[in-house]
Amino acid sequence: MTAVYIDSDMSDAERRDRLYAGDIFIFSPTPGTRALVDLARGMLEEAFAPLDPRELHKHKSAEDVAATLATLKPAFIHHPECKNLLPQIMAEHGVDLEKLYFDVPRMRSAYPSGFLSSGIAYAFHPHRDTWYSAPQCQLNWWLPIYPISANNGMGFYPRHFSKGVANNSDIYNYYEWNTRNRATAAQHVKNDTREQPKPQEPIEDVSMRYVPPPGGVILFSGAQLHETVENTTGLARYSIDFRTVHLDDVRERRGAPNVDAKCTGTTMRDYLRAADLARLPDELIALYDDGTATSDRILAFGDRLAPAAQGG
Ligand SMILES: [Fe+2]
Repeated sequence: MTAVYIDSDMSDAERRDRLYAGDIFIFSPTPGTRALVDLARGMLEEAFAPLDPRELHKHKSAEDVAATLATLKPAFIHHPECKNLLPQIMAEHGVDLEKLYFDVPRMRSAYPSGFLSSGIAYAFHPHRDTWYSAPQCQLNWWLPIYPISANNGMGFYPRHFSKGVANNSDIYNYYEWNTRNRATAAQHVKNDTREQPKPQEPIEDVSMRYVPPPGGVILFSGAQLHETVENTTGLARYSIDFRTVHLDDVRERRGAPNVDAKCTGTTMRDYLRAADLARLPDELIALYDDGTATSDRILAFGDRLAPAAQGG
């Protein structure tokens, strides 16, 4: 059984317990999420002016859009306002900033089917973030920038939270992926040939769709099976997501049960403390190391992010 809580005022500790048990939380917009969404929307509209960013597919080639996104998405990730707004959003949701670590926020796009559905605007097949080296205690915060519908948002398979899915996540090592692939995502416009962890059996369920308003949040465990649904509407979807971990849970190795993830490496080095942007202590990261991190390829991506996230 999965419970979906709407605007719950549960404490953060109790909420994390529920999230690790597979429950999902939906929150109405707050001043912080509204400001984050306004920032993203302003950047999108400036980058694509005078066009409506939701209707680019009617006017531009996939290559043109991909080229603009290749600049716009990193500019959003590194925007100085994001470093203030994420802690604000966490505080608005009752999270202790001294113990909360987050990864930089990403901007995502999902265009009407057939247009730019790979590479930098990759349409994600059903997956768990824990197939991509996220720790079992990772929580995902997802919010739409414009109004969405059931057919251009996110889909969830809550029944598979506790039921494993045959998958090939053993092909994925976080450090290897960063080194080899991340820098070239902008080149994969039409055909994405990068090998990714995927289900190796059909998922029988139809995904659940939660449809919050712009700035509303879906909060869920990174171990939930979820997907970007195929966009069958006439409008592009833009969203923001970021991931968090809580210090106590990292230390105590608490989190969702691992039912089927077999990837290697850990994203633990990417999270920054909300209070001062410090990294997690090395001895805690070491709890999650599996021997695949080598000095020449570790943090190939995180190294570039950290100085920028700290104001460089
Ligand atoms: Fe995901």
